Amino acid sequence: MKQQLEQIRQAALCELDGCAALPELDAVRVKYLGKKGELTAILKQMGKLSAEERPVIGQLANEIRAGLEEAISAKSEQLKAAELEKKLENEKIDVTLPSKKNALGHKHPLSVVLEEVEDIFMGMGFDIASGPEVEWDYYNFEALNIPKEHPARDTQDTFYITENMLLRTQTSPVQIRVMEKQQPPIRIISPGRVFRSDAVDATHSPLFHQIEGLVVDKGITMADLKGCLESFAKRLYGEDTKIRLRPHHFPFTEPSCEVDVSCFRCGGKGCPMCKNEGWIEILGAGMVHPKVLKNCGVDPEVYSGFAFGMGLERLTMFRFSIDDLRLMYENDMKFLSQF
Ligand code: DAH
Repeated sequence: MKQQLEQIRQAALCELDGCAALPELDAVRVKYLGKKGELTAILKQMGKLSAEERPVIGQLANEIRAGLEEAISAKSEQLKAAELEKKLENEKIDVTLPSKKNALGHKHPLSVVLEEVEDIFMGMGFDIASGPEVEWDYYNFEALNIPKEHPARDTQDTFYITENMLLRTQTSPVQIRVMEKQQPPIRIISPGRVFRSDAVDATHSPLFHQIEGLVVDKGITMADLKGCLESFAKRLYGEDTKIRLRPHHFPFTEPSCEVDVSCFRCGGKGCPMCKNEGWIEILGAGMVHPKVLKNCGVDPEVYSGFAFGMGLERLTMFRFSIDDLRLMYENDMKFLSQF
């Protein structure tokens, strides 16, 4: 039995020596010192020994157990120290490495174009005005010479809060609000959100943006309208840009027109961008209707003015050759990071 014990000691020490990690060490402990361990098994046979042998073997077994326990604990300390060392080595900070770059955001294409438009008009002496998105029927329609049964309301169906309160369909009501508060001279643009109950497709959205313009003073004529919008078009699309006025109808202007710019892609020769027309429509405009001036307490015998309204999405789509309106609202970084 003595021999067996010696063998166990040798084998255990040898295995301990070969342990490279804590779980392995624990396995060795269990194998020899555990309840079903090899040393324990020997000790269970002690009863078979003679009275003389028992204390001798008992002492040796205890000695071996104590020796192994000590060796295991020493090895455990050693392995723990090595593991810590390795961890520290891995977590070492190299202060000379280049730092991680913070991704810097940038403006949405709609904001880029809006700010350009604002800069251009502010350069011509315009102020920026704003009005509410939830608007009275009176400001959105009635005061703009669009009475209840007017067919122009059909194309501008919207979301009603009450019978007389709605989400504005255009930025034109800001014209009324400005003229009610301020006597001419008036020179403002008013950008903002507008709403229509339109289904979403590549060119329609129930929410979009317009930029309204209004100039009222003594002696304002159609020539001022044309000169102002031509300067604007040249600043936005380049000095070679020409504009063309086509007769149109808006209830709040008389005469009214639509304004086209010569295609900035092909210079007017015709290309897919302008659908081979050479011209691209960018806004509606006209001389403020005398009835509208009167509605706001401005005397049409003394003052005259022009107004215009354009869609920011449309301007932006042409500006950056974007062919689907929906891209501008999807917050897709792959799209947005291009601008
Ligand atoms: N409010 C018009 C629309 O949404 C656009 C417009 C046309 C505005 C002519 C004007 C204007 O100020 O004079 O279709």
